[in-house]
Amino acid sequence: MADPDALPSAPPAASGIIARYAAYLPLTPDTPRITLGEGSTPLVRAESLERLTGAASVHLKLESCNPTGSFKDRGMVLAVAKAIEDGHQAVLCASTGNTSASAAAYAARMGLKVYVLVPRGSIAQGKLAQAIAHGARILAVKGSFDDALTLAREITDRHPIALVNSVNPHRIQGQKTGAFEIVDALGDAPDLHCMPVGNAGNITAYWMGYRDYQAEERLTRPPRMFGFQAAGAAPLVSGQIVEHPETIATAIRIGKPASWAGAVAARDQSGGDIQAVSDDQILHAYRHLAREEGVFCEPASAACVAGLLQLPQRGVDLSGARIVCIITGSGLKDPDIALSAEADIVDVPVDLAAVEAALD
Ligand code: F0G
Repeated sequence: MADPDALPSAPPAASGIIARYAAYLPLTPDTPRITLGEGSTPLVRAESLERLTGAASVHLKLESCNPTGSFKDRGMVLAVAKAIEDGHQAVLCASTGNTSASAAAYAARMGLKVYVLVPRGSIAQGKLAQAIAHGARILAVKGSFDDALTLAREITDRHPIALVNSVNPHRIQGQKTGAFEIVDALGDAPDLHCMPVGNAGNITAYWMGYRDYQAEERLTRPPRMFGFQAAGAAPLVSGQIVEHPETIATAIRIGKPASWAGAVAARDQSGGDIQAVSDDQILHAYRHLAREEGVFCEPASAACVAGLLQLPQRGVDLSGARIVCIITGSGLKDPDIALSAEADIVDVPVDLAAVEAALD
């Protein structure tokens, strides 16, 4: 009989970011070690993007593979654990959709009450469905995400409810583990890191993660950080608050990012940039990823690939560079965008010949 110890070991059970990166997180013995299996997401090569940009390698970090379909789970697991540690029985967030889906899932799992404030009429269907399914109390604010976040801060100041937006430092701490995974997988930091930017928590978090690993000499030098905003919602590009942000990428329809200073620090300290991409460029990248790479992401996520594709003509030399793009959320979150494309759906009868004839 084969020696079981000699057999290739099974992949480790999903243990989550709190267990995997405990040494780098602000844990105490009282922090509950909770998980829905977040983190340890795939890092896959995108050869078509290498051909188009001349980069040595382009990797996509599929944060869409997290339990609720977006990167938010990394930060939410820690924010909810800390809320429980602090004795809270309820959590609240403002959200363009993904944060609310994630908060709702972790709160449901841990038996907490959850309130979500969303901008009425501008959150994607899949995200709303998640918040409903997990039993969140959903308040649709007749205003923007920025209005909802202002209200969320005021309410949590007045009531014993934990605010789980990325202004909560535990969210940033959890999300920085994405940077650890990239360096652990590649053996060093990439040369360029590309990501979409909305409220700017995630770019702040990744930069913190790279700096933490640099302090431990786990990487040679941190990457240049490139953030991309939608042109109609690009306050970090113009340097001005946008009162009425507009973009098809509803996840990043944000005019007054809470982590403004963190985004600017990541850009400037890393020698990177924050740039705008048009909705047409976003949709082009969205379709390219789906059709050429088999990666179905939401429009906000495609913004970083749209931005990457612009970099050579904007004077950034990518030849020989190792690049990572963060695919922040799943395309299933926003099915309306895919369904609004001209679809090639052919009606056929239950008839073999007719089906054969229809295979073009
Ligand atoms: N990509 C997706 C899919 C997002 O949902 C968000 C933010 C971002 C990118 C931008 O990340 O805000 O850290 O700069 N979504 C938030 C939400 C605002 O409420 O779900 P950021």
